[in-house]
Amino acid sequence: MYGNAAGGGGTEKRTARRKKVTAPALRARKGGRPIAMVTAYDFTMARLLDAGGVDALLVGDSLGMVVQGQTTTIPVTLDEVCYHTRAVARGAQYAHVVGDMPFMSFQVSPTQALESAGKLVKEGMAESVKLEGGEEVAEHVMRIVRAGIPVMGHVGLTPQSVHALGGFRVQGKDDDAAARIVEGAQALEQAGVYAIVLEAMPPDVAERVTEAVSVPTIGIGAGPHCDGQVLVCYDMLGMTLGHAPKFAKRFAELGEQVKGAAEAFVQQIEERSFPAPEHCYDANVKKGAKLSVV
Ligand code: KIV
Repeated sequence: MYGNAAGGGGTEKRTARRKKVTAPALRARKGGRPIAMVTAYDFTMARLLDAGGVDALLVGDSLGMVVQGQTTTIPVTLDEVCYHTRAVARGAQYAHVVGDMPFMSFQVSPTQALESAGKLVKEGMAESVKLEGGEEVAEHVMRIVRAGIPVMGHVGLTPQSVHALGGFRVQGKDDDAAARIVEGAQALEQAGVYAIVLEAMPPDVAERVTEAVSVPTIGIGAGPHCDGQVLVCYDMLGMTLGHAPKFAKRFAELGEQVKGAAEAFVQQIEERSFPAPEHCYDANVKKGAKLSVV
């Protein structure tokens, strides 16, 4: 009875040739066709982004900030990520679905990391998992990968460590800090990740990391030299209110459209021009006949 958001349109021809994107297929894109990843948190958005041709949908713990309205990602729970990932997975016909491992769902031990990753795949329908950190989580990554679950790494600005980092700050600004990011990425590669997110670092640092590892790097606020890019869907769609980070290019202005639509809705209700006759059911229905509500 609710609208089906996937709609046909210009993407139909392209989708006819598309195959489901897998972790090995993303891994094979190193140095090749750049990877396009976007975050998604619900079924309708997942279907639209999937129809638009994105390679991967990340159910990020950013949901704590952009869906729940929290000031950090720290309060997000594994159950919450599972819930949103299930919804996204149902809408992702082709895009690879990555479930993000929230704060304290993996840091305690490799065993805890494996259990949480297993839950995200089993209950959340994730096709791979992402976790934040470098060398310090290499063992955790190894345990998950050995169990047959593909892992995406995440270095640079790791928002779950916001208090240790002193805020959401650009990372790798001096030689030592840049070297630590490179080493962290190499440790993740050794541990078996299939791709690594590079967040908030100068482009030359991201370029060094990209050259230093044999798996694709996917940048966010990390410049043009990565093997792919990721944005938060609401930033990408121009739905973010207030301050948005410099790197968050708006590919549409849906925020303005949503506001405009809400204003038109309110106005038409007040002036009683909605609903019009075409929005009303036919009164001429025979007794006992089934009502069609589509
Ligand atoms: O949680 C998230 O959305 C992320 C991306 C910003 C990479 O980790």
